Parts: sequence; C-alpha cells; structure tokens
Amino acid sequence: MRVLTIIPTYNEKENLPRVVERLRAAVPDCDILVVDDNSPDGTGKLADDMAASDSQIHVLHRTTKDGLGGAYLAGFDWGLAEGYDVLVEMDADCSHQPEQLPLLLRAIENGADLAIGSRYVPGGKTKNWPAHRLLLSRGANLYTRLILGTTIKDITAGYRAYTREALQRLNLDGIDSKGYVFQVDLAWRSEKAGLKIEEVPITFIEREIGSSKMDGNIIFDSMSKVTRWGLSSRFEGAKSKISNLRK
Ligand code: GDD
Ligand code: MN
Repeated sequence: MRVLTIIPTYNEKENLPRVVERLRAAVPDCDILVVDDNSPDGTGKLADDMAASDSQIHVLHRTTKDGLGGAYLAGFDWGLAEGYDVLVEMDADCSHQPEQLPLLLRAIENGADLAIGSRYVPGGKTKNWPAHRLLLSRGANLYTRLILGTTIKDITAGYRAYTREALQRLNLDGIDSKGYVFQVDLAWRSEKAGLKIEEVPITFIEREIGSSKMDGNIIFDSMSKVTRWGLSSRFEGAKSKISNLRK
C-alpha cells in the first residue's frame, strides 16, 4: 500500500519540521506532499529545503492563498497521477497526531473507503480547545447533520484517509468548495456515493504554535453552502415523490 500524506500549509514555518519529523518516525514508509500557498513566512522555501534532503518529501507551490479545499484538490490530483493507493489529509500544526495515523490506515486495510479521524465518536477527544471553539465545532456538526441528514458524527473533521478508488469515484473536477467546507462536501459526496466510511476515534490537540486560519468568512461560507445543499436535496426528494405520485 503506497501512502501519501498531504499537508496544506499557510504560514506554518515552525510547525512544518515538527509534524514532518513525527510523521516520518510514526509511519516511515509514507510519502509526504506539502501544498504551500506562497506563505509570506517562507514555509514554501523551508519545505523545498526539507525535500532536497529527503526523497520521500515533495512540495507543491501555489501562487496565492486559495483555501484549504483548493490545496487538497491540487494535492489529490498530484497523488493520483503519481499512483498512490491511499491519500491522507493532515493539518500542519500537529493537531492531528501523526502517531495516530496507523489507526486510520488500519481502517483502510480492513476495507474502509474513507477513514475519518473523529473527535465525536466514543473515545474521540479534543484537547486545549477554548470553549467557544468547541462550541462552534459541535454546533457546526450538529447543524450540518440535521440539515443534510447525514449520520457522520464528525463531518467537519480534517484528519482523513481516502483510497484512490474512493477519490476517483467522487468526481473531484466538479467540486467548487475552496475553503474548509470542502471537508463536509467530500464526506457528504462519499456518503451519497455509498462509500464505506469508518469513523476512528482520535484526540485532536489544539496547536501550540502559530494561529488558526479559520475566520468569520469561512464559517459563513460553510453554513450557507451546507444550507443550500440541504434545501436542494430536500427539494429534489420532494420533486421525485410528486412525480412518482403522478405515475
Ligand atoms: N495551502 C493552504 N491554503 N493551507 C491552508 C489554507 C489555505 O488557504 N488555510 C488553512 N491551511 C492549512 C493550515 O496551514 C493548516 O495546516 C491546516 O490547513 C488547518 O488550518 P488551521 O487554521 O490550523 O485549522 P483549524 O485548526 O482552525 O481547523 C481544524 O478544524 C477544522 C474543523 O474541524 C482543522 O482540522 C480543519 O481541517 C477542520 O475542518
Ligand atoms: Mn489547527
């Protein structure tokens, strides 16, 4: 199983060497792709230096900050073209502990198409998150589950492993979710496509260095997209019921 872990970065100069070192120790066979959006702090240059001395590290440079979802789509394209079997999503700030990656990979080995590192299944945790951030995440998950009618407990989670076949079935070209809502978009598409999704309990630890890139615009964008998807899927459902009645 050839595994590629994709790490999107925007101003993560101090975190990147830490997460990469831990990942190389935890899963030595796994290759790494850093997707940097021309970080002003020089993360991209640092990633190039790291890649120069380790053939398992690769770097993709994008010209401007264009969102978490866009960075992952570029990373998936690269990884699929290079023939990887499993593509992993991991934050650069060590919130997703590299030591827990084997838990996700085991779920994939046991037949899951998508393994989600979940904070909100029994055994899952968040550490060091301020109350308002936990409330926001819990609220976003609850709202999304109600509106979309999904059974996934941590649908905004960003620690995941996809098989290449799963990604190939999801029609990645048709995705326009550039921001964090990309995570919800892909999970929901996976569920609708009938993929086997397994939520694996993980402990999410809030970053110690640097700051979150989440902001009010990202939250607003997510909520409005989720609401639109939920309403249009209900509308489609009602329409097909009515046309069945007419038959
Ligand atoms: N290339 C690129 N471009 N990387 C980005 C961008 C972007 O526009 N925006 C964020 N990132 C990178 C960060 O550098 C980091 O490695 C990762 O994406 C996550 O960003 P954070 O800013 O640390 O996210 P968070 O801790 O607030 O959010 C966490 O929780 C969310 C909600 O559960 C993450 O786990 C998210 O993935 C998750 O959706
Ligand atoms: Mn973070």
